[in-house]
Parts: sequence; C-alpha cells; structure tokens
Amino acid sequence: MSDPAPAQLAVELWWGSVPAAQPHLPALLDLLDADERCRADRFRVEAGRQRFVAAHAMLRCLLAERTGIPPQRLTFTAGPRGKPELADPTASAPHFNLAHSGDLAVVALASRELGVDVEALRPFPRAERFAARFFAPFEQQWLEAAPEAERGHAALKLWTFKEAYLKAVGSGIAIALASVEVDPERPALLRVAGVPVAAGEWTLLGARLPGPAVAAVAIRGGGWRLVAPEFDWRTGRS
Ligand SMILES: CC(C)(COP(=O)(O)OP(=O)(O)OC[C@H]1O[C@@H](n2cnc3c(N)ncnc32)[C@H](O)[C@@H]1OP(=O)(O)O)[C@@H](O)C(=O)NCCC(=O)NCCS
Repeated sequence: MSDPAPAQLAVELWWGSVPAAQPHLPALLDLLDADERCRADRFRVEAGRQRFVAAHAMLRCLLAERTGIPPQRLTFTAGPRGKPELADPTASAPHFNLAHSGDLAVVALASRELGVDVEALRPFPRAERFAARFFAPFEQQWLEAAPEAERGHAALKLWTFKEAYLKAVGSGIAIALASVEVDPERPALLRVAGVPVAAGEWTLLGARLPGPAVAAVAIRGGGWRLVAPEFDWRTGRS
C-alpha cells in the first residue's frame, strides 16, 4: 500500500460581507482602538468607513481567538513599509494580513509569513492599457490570449496574485508591480526583478468569493491549501 499523501497545511482566508455586518457595526466599532477609530472617522464615504470598521473588527476577533487576548486589548505595530504586525505576539499568534474591496473584507491567517489581496469584480474596460503599465511581458501576453470579454476579470485576478506577494513581503506596491512576474494559470511566482526567488519558496493560492470577487494569498513555503470560511458577525467566528 502506498503512503498517504502528506497532510497539507491550511491557510485560512476568512471573508465577510460588509452589508451583513451593518447591524453589528456599533458593537464592532467598540472593539477598535483609538487610532483605528480615528482612521475610520477620516473616511468621507460611509461605505468605506463601514468596510474599514468591519475588517479591523474581524481581524481582532480572529486574532483574539488564537491568542487568548481579548480583541480590544490587542495592540499592533507596523513593519518598515507599514505591514501591520502584533506588537506583542503570543507563541500561538498566527501570521496575518488583511484586505478589503467592494462589499468584502478578508483576513488571511496561517503559521507562516503571508499576504492577501481581494478585488471586487467590476467592469475593467482598459485592461490592456493597465497591463502595459503594471504587468510584465509574459503576463501581458497571457492577458492578450484571454477572450476579450474576460480580459478585465483576468487582469484583476492577476493583479491579486502580484499584490498578495508584495503584501507578504511587506513592501506593498512601493515595489513596481511589473517587477513581480506571475503565472496565473498554475498559479506560481515566476521571478521578482532584483530578488532571487527559489522555486517553491512561495505558494500562490487563488479563490473566487461571493460579491463576486477574486482573492489571492501568497505564503512562504510549499504544501499549502486554502480554506475560505465565512465570518459570522454575530459570534465573531465561522
Ligand atoms: C499596502 C497596500 C498594498 C494596500 O493596498 P490597497 O489595495 O489599498 O489595500 P488592501 O485592501 O489590499 O490592503 C489594505 C491593508 O493591507 C495592510 N497593509 C498596509 N500596509 C501594508 C504593507 N506594507 N504590507 C502588507 N500589508 C499592508 C493593512 O492591514 C491595510 O488595511 P487598512 O488600510 O485597513 O489598515 C498599499 O497601500 C501600498 O502599497 N502601500 C505601500 C506602502 C508604501 O508605499 N509606503 C511608503 C512609505 S515607506
């Protein structure tokens, strides 16, 4: 009998619909610290404020569950280019990253360094012009090979893989997006200009979420699989 396949490690991609969070927003706002409330108040558009509050409350609930620290008492710090980290991580604290787009907030959690991006699917009529600016030559060719009607969504999918990697390494899009080259079909990170990347050093995982939206996670190492539970705003769990 052959050996069973090695167990795959799970990356959790939690997602929550912001309209579903609306009735719970006052309670969710209570979980945020003064800095987050200040940032929330700076949104001119109410939908943006609600999405911010929901996303940060979701992150706090998920981290509280894993660290045993109450959500209101978690404190954050930022890496050199702004990647949020726990200021005082416990041994059980996971790596995390957050993203929001359209009506969705997402939080990715795992035991290794990771980044997440989500893009609400929307009409994207100038995908080729966008690709010429932000995509590497291989990626532009891939996009041109897609049926014209699907190019907008294909461009958004490819974008999420690139941004997820840049968020994983914490640089954000301060590094040129075109310097990160991805094969969105496998999906796999092909190369990063000026940075040696060994095969298998990073795993890219994609998901389609209700919204509809596309999301991607980039995580260090191999052997990962993605699970995408919906966040329950009432209980703070799936
Ligand atoms: C981080 C960045 C990619 C976010 O892009 P976006 O599409 O607007 O937003 P997303 O929804 O994907 O992600 C936002 C979340 O990513 C996280 N984040 C912020 N900076 C990050 C970084 N450098 N790396 C990883 N994650 C980061 C935060 O949790 C943020 O949520 P918040 O704004 O609600 O606090 C973008 O803001 C960026 O590139 N910043 C570059 C940083 C930079 O240039 N700094 C210059 C000074 S050194």
